Amino acid sequence: MKKFLSITTFLAICTGTPAIASTWDSICSKCHGIIAPSKDVLIKKFKTKEALVEAAKNSAKHKKMPFDNVKAFEKAAKELFSREVSVKSVQEDFRSFFTPLPSFPPIPKNNSLTPEKVKLGKMLYYDPRLSRSQLISCNTCHNLSIGGDDNQKTSIGHGWQAGPRNAPTTINSGFLKVQFWDGRALTLEEQAAGPLQAHVEMNATPKLIVERLKRIPEYVELFKKAFPGEKDPVTFENVTKAIAAFERTLNTPNSPFNRYLLGDDNALTSEQKEGMKLFVKYGCIACHNGPVLSDGQFHEFKWNKDLGRYNVTKNPKDKYKFRTPQLLNVAITAPYFHDGSVNSLEAAIKIMAKKELGKELSNIEAKKIKAFLESMTGEVPLEARVLPELPEKN
Ligand code: HEC
Ligand code: HEC
Ligand code: HEC
Repeated sequence: MKKFLSITTFLAICTGTPAIASTWDSICSKCHGIIAPSKDVLIKKFKTKEALVEAAKNSAKHKKMPFDNVKAFEKAAKELFSREVSVKSVQEDFRSFFTPLPSFPPIPKNNSLTPEKVKLGKMLYYDPRLSRSQLISCNTCHNLSIGGDDNQKTSIGHGWQAGPRNAPTTINSGFLKVQFWDGRALTLEEQAAGPLQAHVEMNATPKLIVERLKRIPEYVELFKKAFPGEKDPVTFENVTKAIAAFERTLNTPNSPFNRYLLGDDNALTSEQKEGMKLFVKYGCIACHNGPVLSDGQFHEFKWNKDLGRYNVTKNPKDKYKFRTPQLLNVAITAPYFHDGSVNSLEAAIKIMAKKELGKELSNIEAKKIKAFLESMTGEVPLEARVLPELPEKN
């Protein structure tokens, strides 16, 4: 019997037809392929059975799918992936689950990337005169020589106040689909307007910033060059545009992981490759995917009193939801989570497995995944890390 089954399974793999009347064919296909996505679409979208089950549960929970038998989800997912993925994964490695990081993120039409703008944006990023106290710059909290963050639990801003949240890195931030832990800004331009004005961060006003910059002739010249053709180029909007342009150059496509994705088989150690498989198999990839390992979506992470996305939308469904953070350079941006409450990366990985996937990882597994995440550390372009010479006031 066993032999018979394995032969028919083998035939099923070769011909793409199921060996026995499967859960998928007898239950799921009543809707899927007709009023819901077909199996091919689901396999391509979710890539692992864990991720597919998770999505099915989510869809049922939010009443999108009028069917909620978790056992059936698990059986069907197992069938789908034993046919398609296990065959593939023996021959191929797990590279195909990931997306390499391009050298530059998408550049918006209304803020093209020019050397003049990037040069100005870099100066503004480093210039503490953009803060009320003239003590705090973007680089204070997003220090480009230590991973683009501040290595603090939560950031210290204006008047030595501690804000409520941990500073994420600005490195590769141009690839994020939404900005901030709760996604309250969509673009880097919109994002930059936040900290300049936030009381616990730089506590300035657009008027104050523009007045200060206009008193510095070299800045006025640089704005003219960066925004040619504009009559009065020293504006708050252009400040945010120049900073955003600079941020779009802070990319790390030279990490071992990215080199591996681009074809260098030896860029990862064997431990890192094992960690990569675990990352896929356990379903981390369901949320941490795409070029910076973030789906740009909001997922529940009930951790403390912070209501996350709910504060932005006031939709009760969004309580305790946070945007999936990117994982590039995560090994050098401790502490972790939106409140910076966890210092060790291994601990953060175990918490994720438990809270997001319902799985207990062994210490060895967590160590392998950590090794894998370490391969995502790259170097910020030297040009961005060399401190600029800031112009003097007249
Ligand atoms: C009675 C109809 C019906 C049955 C039976 C059904 N589904 Fe669904 N399923 C849906 C609908 C409708 C959606 C929502 C599609 C959407 O949001 O676009 C959905 C969503 C899903 C999703 C999430 C898709 C996504 O893109 O997020 C998965 C995964 C899924 N179903 C798997 C299964 C599996 C596995 C089975 C069988 C065990 C199954 N479904 C049975 C109707 C059904
Ligand atoms: C006092 C510290 C502080 C300063 C100064 C500061 N930031 Fe931040 N930054 C933070 C914190 C904390 C967050 C997360 C806040 C949240 O999500 O609620 C953040 C979020 C961000 C993000 C979003 C990244 C992501 O993963 O969502 C970007 C981009 C960013 N800051 C850029 C800047 C720029 C540009 C400046 C200067 C104009 C700046 N920051 C000044 C602390 C700071
Ligand atoms: C259901 C979606 C989902 C899954 C599955 C998931 N994560 Fe996460 N991950 C998130 C979200 C959302 C956060 C942000 C949590 C918060 O609010 O601090 C996060 C945070 C993290 C962080 C902290 C990053 C930082 O900068 O603070 C790490 C590390 C991480 N995840 C790794 C993993 C690993 C490894 C797995 C698999 C074992 C995994 N995640 C599975 C959604 C997910």
